Amino acid sequence: MISNIHLIGAGQTRFGELWDKSIRDLMEEATDAAIANSPCTALDIDLIVVSNMLAEVTNGQAHLSAIASSLLPHHPPAIRVESACGSGAFALHTAMAMLESGRARNVLVIGVEKMTDVSMETVASALMGAADSEQERPAGLTFPGIFGLIAQRYMHDFGLSREDLSLVSAVHHRNACANPFAQFRSEITPDAVSSSAAVADPLRLLDCSPISDGAAACILSTEHVNGVRVAASQIASDSLSIIHRPVITSFSATKDAAERALTEAGIKLKEIDVLETHDCFSIAALINLEDLGFCDPGQGINIYKDIFARRGDSGIALGVNLSGGLKGCGHPVAATGIKQVIDVAKQLQKTGRRYGLAHNFGGAAATCGVHILENVS
Ligand code: COA
Repeated sequence: MISNIHLIGAGQTRFGELWDKSIRDLMEEATDAAIANSPCTALDIDLIVVSNMLAEVTNGQAHLSAIASSLLPHHPPAIRVESACGSGAFALHTAMAMLESGRARNVLVIGVEKMTDVSMETVASALMGAADSEQERPAGLTFPGIFGLIAQRYMHDFGLSREDLSLVSAVHHRNACANPFAQFRSEITPDAVSSSAAVADPLRLLDCSPISDGAAACILSTEHVNGVRVAASQIASDSLSIIHRPVITSFSATKDAAERALTEAGIKLKEIDVLETHDCFSIAALINLEDLGFCDPGQGINIYKDIFARRGDSGIALGVNLSGGLKGCGHPVAATGIKQVIDVAKQLQKTGRRYGLAHNFGGAAATCGVHILENVS
């Protein structure tokens, strides 16, 4: 149901351990940057959608919509959206619905998370709120544990080796080196990934996205244009727990959201030139490439082998997580989906390529959002 909705401004904070900034500071910095980057003024914003998962636990702060509204001089109406690590995509989808209905003309979408002010135990437990508290939490699982099980099964089914899996994080770290907003701007070798500390077998420290602070904001508009159009915005869901799924090496919510998004955009997958995908753990990046349709099941690693061998994206048709992905950039969970869309837009404008796709999911892909952007400049 999309008509002409454009991404007209974008800004973000650096992602990382930002102990000198409050959650309000992060929201303000990203908001100011997005407005400065757009053709509109703060007073043009007629609605704000805030994406956040954990602030009650990690910051003792609820009611982020009221904070967001107070950042602008005219206190526009604001709402908060939560869908775990996929909150960003769901906030964008909510903003799109408000624009499509005509209830708003310029919507500011802010994703924010401040995770490093509490202990690792507290944040790991809070993140488990994205899983099934009746079935997965009592089993002692954390998210690295859930994706460790998924990786075990994938390696068993498809023969993926530990050495090959290590290429994924090496590529993401290498890409992050060029991103001034990334948490980790250092190259790592595949060997360093394989020999990093064990977290949840077979996953190691360097297979995992980190605990991060950060905010990202963008402005979607039916009133102004600025070179990038939102060609599709789709969301989908699966069972909350992996226990209830016939297979755990493929995520149906990704398949459903991607299929609907391509239909909505009226394009084929092969027209996508730029991809930001949800690599919360290295194994997820491989599964995502397969579920999105870029390769057959079990073949995702071949795309990473190709990228790793060539260094950079020159000569490669598809740019995958050129920002550094969640692994290299950091993963302040509810900011990630907004940041992905910003990065896709940047890469389209930088390269002159036409279509890019942002893929963001919550939990073990129990919820998923896919956005397709079109470069119309
Ligand atoms: N990648 C690279 N380096 C990392 C890292 C990561 N994921 N996590 C931590 N580090 C670095 C730290 O910067 C630190 O370096 P330093 O000693 O030079 O300062 C070192 O490794 C140890 O960090 P520490 O904070 O003690 O790690 P930890 O053991 O407490 O946590 C994980 C590591 C992997 C368990 C944690 O990052 C994690 O749980 N990640 C997954 C988050 C998650 O589930 N997100 C939701 C996804 S669905």
